[in-house]
Formats: sequence, C-alpha cells, structure tokens
Amino acid sequence: MDTNTKPTDRRSVNPAVRRPFDSPATWFEAVYTHAGDDINNVPWARQTNNPLLMPWLEQQLRVHQRTLVVGCGLGDDAEMLARRDLQVTAFDISPRAIAWCRQRFPSSAVDYQVADLFQLPATFRQAFDLVFDALTIQSIPPHMHADAIAAIAECVAPGGTLLIICYGRQPDEPTDGPPWYLARTELDQFLQHGLQEVHFEEHMMSGVRRFLVEYSRL
Ligand SMILES: C[S@@+](CC[C@H](N)C(=O)[O-])C[C@H]1O[C@@H](n2cnc3c(N)ncnc32)[C@H](O)[C@@H]1O
Repeated sequence: MDTNTKPTDRRSVNPAVRRPFDSPATWFEAVYTHAGDDINNVPWARQTNNPLLMPWLEQQLRVHQRTLVVGCGLGDDAEMLARRDLQVTAFDISPRAIAWCRQRFPSSAVDYQVADLFQLPATFRQAFDLVFDALTIQSIPPHMHADAIAAIAECVAPGGTLLIICYGRQPDEPTDGPPWYLARTELDQFLQHGLQEVHFEEHMMSGVRRFLVEYSRL
C-alpha cells in the first residue's frame, strides 16, 4: 500500500466517510464499523508506522519512557514505539478501533484504552515523557482544535516531549474537511500551554504538505 495515500483517495470504498461530520465519537465509530474486517476500508490506515516517525525516533535516545499515543487508530505507530522499549499507552475514541488493535496485536505490550481526548482521565495529567499525535487534531472540526491542543499539551510531563505530525496548510489557504489541514499559526497555540517549540520540519509528500513539530515542557 502507498503509505502516502491521501485519505480522500480511498473515500469511495467506505460510505461512512461521506457522512456529515456530527461528532468525533459517532463519525469515527461509523467509519471503523463500516470497514468490516478489511483494513483497506479505513482511509488513513497504512498498516505501517507513519513515514515521518521513524526518522525522528532514530535521532532520539529514549528507553522505558512513559509514552502516550493520541487517537491511535489501528495501532501501527503505538506498536512501533513499544518495539523501541517505550512504555506505551494508546487511546482512541472509537471502541471498534481499540478492539481492532487488540485483535491485530494480541501479544502487544501497548496498553490500549478507549478514551475521549476531551475527557481524559486525571491520571494522564502531565504524566507522559513522550506524547505523540499523528493526524488526530486535523481529523476533528476547526472549532474544536484549540481544545484538542490544550488537552494534548496537558498530558506532557515536566521535561517531556510532544511530537505532532499533521497535514499542513498556509494560513491563508482554506481547508475543507475532514481532514481540516492545520496552519502553523494554529499549532503555535501549543506555546500557550507551557510548551516550547524545539524542532520543525515541513515535507511535501504526494502533493500534500506535512508538518512535524517537536515541543518540550520545561
Ligand atoms: C485520521 S485518524 C488517525 C489515526 C492514527 N493516528 C494514524 O495516524 O493512523 C484520527 C483518529 O483519531 C481518533 N479520534 C478522533 N477524535 C478523537 C477524540 N476526541 N478522542 C480520541 N480519539 C479521537 C479517531 O477515532 C481516529 O482513529
């Protein structure tokens, strides 16, 4: 499978993707449920880790760190991080997605949980040395982005790292989702939550701009 396939390229295979976006809980559960048992019917599922994650991780010396994967989908990134000896918790709002992760990786070391980013357990508060999100913020409507950014930032422990990978746009480019591509100016809201930007990359892959941004909490 082409790891750079745009989600929209595979919309036709899953009619639930064309439903109006009502809420993250119902929209994503419908997409995963309508996919049946065929992973190819989940538009964003790559069956391998995010292509930008491994090069970033290879420059890091991280072992046994408490790691949180936000909106983990079908678990490929969480599994890759666990194989690198990180202690991984991964959550998604979709019960079907989490059940699918457990089915795909029955011997997994990852602690998979059904959870809503907007109602996270108090135990997640500043509890993770590494927080990783790929593609979740952009998958929910723009009026929810500020709250999503605040909730993700809240999970980063003192001295911890946040890694965001998303589809990017210029601030004046319109976005019509899902997914709703993110402008760098939106991502700057992380700085309002005690985080500092330490690294920024921009890539063009298959005609789609992607941002990788690393933040740290002092
Ligand atoms: C575009 S998919 C990306 C999945 C995965 N991160 C990846 O890169 O393949 C967005 C994921 O975020 C999850 N999600 C959306 N809103 C959420 C929320 N409020 N809380 C937790 N997960 C959420 C969806 O169920 C979906 O699995």
